[in-house]
Amino acid sequence: MWDVFSDAAFKRRMPMIIVTGGAGFIGSNFVREWLAAEQDSVVNLDKLTYAGNLRSLVDVEKNPRYRFVQGDIGDRPLLAKLLRETRPRAIVNFAAESHVDRSIHSAGEFIQTNIVSTFNLLEEVRAYHAELSPAEREAFRFLHVSTDEVYGSLGPNDPAFAESHKYEPNSPYSASKAASDHLVRAYHHTYHLPVLTTNCSNNYGPYHFPEKLIPLMILNALAGKRLPVYGDGQNVRDWLYVTDHCTAIRMVLAKGRVGETYNVGGRNERTNLDVVNVICKLLDELKPRADGKSYAAQIEFVADRPGHDQRYAIDATRLETELGWQAAENFDTGIRKTVQWYLANQDWVQSVTSGEYRNWVQTQYENRAVA
Ligand code: NAD
Ligand code: TYD
Repeated sequence: MWDVFSDAAFKRRMPMIIVTGGAGFIGSNFVREWLAAEQDSVVNLDKLTYAGNLRSLVDVEKNPRYRFVQGDIGDRPLLAKLLRETRPRAIVNFAAESHVDRSIHSAGEFIQTNIVSTFNLLEEVRAYHAELSPAEREAFRFLHVSTDEVYGSLGPNDPAFAESHKYEPNSPYSASKAASDHLVRAYHHTYHLPVLTTNCSNNYGPYHFPEKLIPLMILNALAGKRLPVYGDGQNVRDWLYVTDHCTAIRMVLAKGRVGETYNVGGRNERTNLDVVNVICKLLDELKPRADGKSYAAQIEFVADRPGHDQRYAIDATRLETELGWQAAENFDTGIRKTVQWYLANQDWVQSVTSGEYRNWVQTQYENRAVA
């Protein structure tokens, strides 16, 4: 890790983008893909909360086009300095509190980071943008990464979420993301900041923190623990392999219409119970249990999440027809790769399952009633 501010050679490397939250699940996949596919240098600004882990980026940390800065997107003096000294042509904003269950236990951090700190980031970016030359100002982009959860919940036969769907967030997490989307929209409308917003469905793949459904189930299965399915397991999510999301973001950044929103999703709706069963089957094949039984024997239905959204589904027609994006993975190919990755990367798993993570698991699951 180098100090960006005293690193004159790096600061001369143009063009440059700033990625916020680049040590998290999607951000780290994005940084890796960006460095492989694009020419720009990358500054990764991340606070390193429990969800941020530099072990997810060890393979790129010596790349001369990459630098890490530890900091908060709400730290305005830091942002002012970083923007002026690195002069990015774009910001891709992943930084957020992202876990619904945590937002139900304790919403304060979600309000702080997802709303207040995003506001601070927008203010500093607006000031920086105003100082650019006309050509630089024209080319600049602020891409805000958001979620399909801002649209609320669908019934079984409702059409998938299009960009025109009304906002009906139901959890403190989705409400805080909805607020940030509105702020981003307002900074375009009012101040002409050249923004783009993406609203993506549930991601999965390598470097996913094991508090979320898919990595939690893989790791619990391997550890011989119960597989806690909320409610009846019939809630539906629309799963997208993380690198397909990263490709979509790069496309929107390159070709998206300023001020526009793009929904991102791979048309892979699955019930939670189906997802858990697929994971069990793959593990039965790739790492059979010593007693010859299926991992599915570890499934246990537990008390439901309060306010649990029934179904999410994304209509990605705009992204597909306007920008030509297509997902490279379907759920079957993506989930196989994911299970294989977790089996092959136990050292990463050990490194993220720190004391804080163990405390969370205790709070969330230890006293959860069996349904
Ligand atoms: P994550 O929780 O894995 O990572 C978030 C990252 O942001 C972490 O590295 C954390 O340290 C950092 N961070 C948190 N607060 C910060 C702050 N105040 N300043 C700087 N850095 C901070 O999240 P993720 O799953 O990678 O999601 C990234 C973004 O994509 C989020 O905005 C999320 O809402 C959105 N999103 C996620 C999904 C999904 O399925 N995971 C789907 C759609 C959209
Ligand atoms: P999650 O990965 O937390 O993503 P989100 O809430 O953003 O969709 O959860 C995905 C689905 O899996 C959701 O319907 C809740 C369910 N779930 C369980 O059934 N058990 C679990 O232990 C977890 C973490 C999630």
